[in-house]
Amino acid sequence: MTSERPALKTSMTGRGVYPASQARWLLHPLRRLIMSPRRICSRLALKPADRVLEIGPGPGWFSPQIARLIPEGTLVLFDIQREMLVLAAQRFIAAGVTNYQLVEGDAKRLPFESNSFDAVLLVTVLGEVGDPGRTLREIRRVLRAGGRVVITEQLGDPDHVRRKTLRALASDAGLRITRLEGSFLQYTATLGIA
Ligand SMILES: C[S@@+](CC[C@H](N)C(=O)[O-])C[C@H]1O[C@@H](n2cnc3c(N)ncnc32)[C@H](O)[C@@H]1O
Repeated sequence: MTSERPALKTSMTGRGVYPASQARWLLHPLRRLIMSPRRICSRLALKPADRVLEIGPGPGWFSPQIARLIPEGTLVLFDIQREMLVLAAQRFIAAGVTNYQLVEGDAKRLPFESNSFDAVLLVTVLGEVGDPGRTLREIRRVLRAGGRVVITEQLGDPDHVRRKTLRALASDAGLRITRLEGSFLQYTATLGIA
């Protein structure tokens, strides 16, 4: 699937889509100290046969860990930059993971059937998508009853979405925050259908 691409960041302190040319920083081993894939992915409370959507996976820092937690299920990686999906696929190959699909597109128009995912993950993505409210409404549409949406945001990210903003946008989209964890610097919100 193709899509018109919004503006890439021109500096790492500016707003916009994080460029694939800088993807290596998202895979830096020290990132494990602040964004451990094991810790973040445990918040998805996955079952082995779940169907999971990761929006804006970038080069796949979290993706192999999710795929391992759903050995009978499928992980769909959805990113607006094809280059990011190619990098994520390389990590799957290195990890020996095969239960995934790669889909290119814009999160404001998810090309998936309604009620088709058990869980959705977005880490430092929501503020980049251009229209977070519309994106949350799309996520609500594709989420199955009883499904979970896990959103992690990092202070200092130029596209940071504040907790208060997320709460209001989620409510408008028919979602509600059921759990908030983290620290001043970083939070993870778990959302369910309101
Ligand atoms: C800052 S990176 C985060 C990558 C990954 N979640 C992580 O934390 O390592 C943001 C990612 O979201 C993707 N993205 C931005 N806007 C998007 C949109 N409208 N639809 C889909 N993906 C988008 C970017 O291409 C990029 O891969």
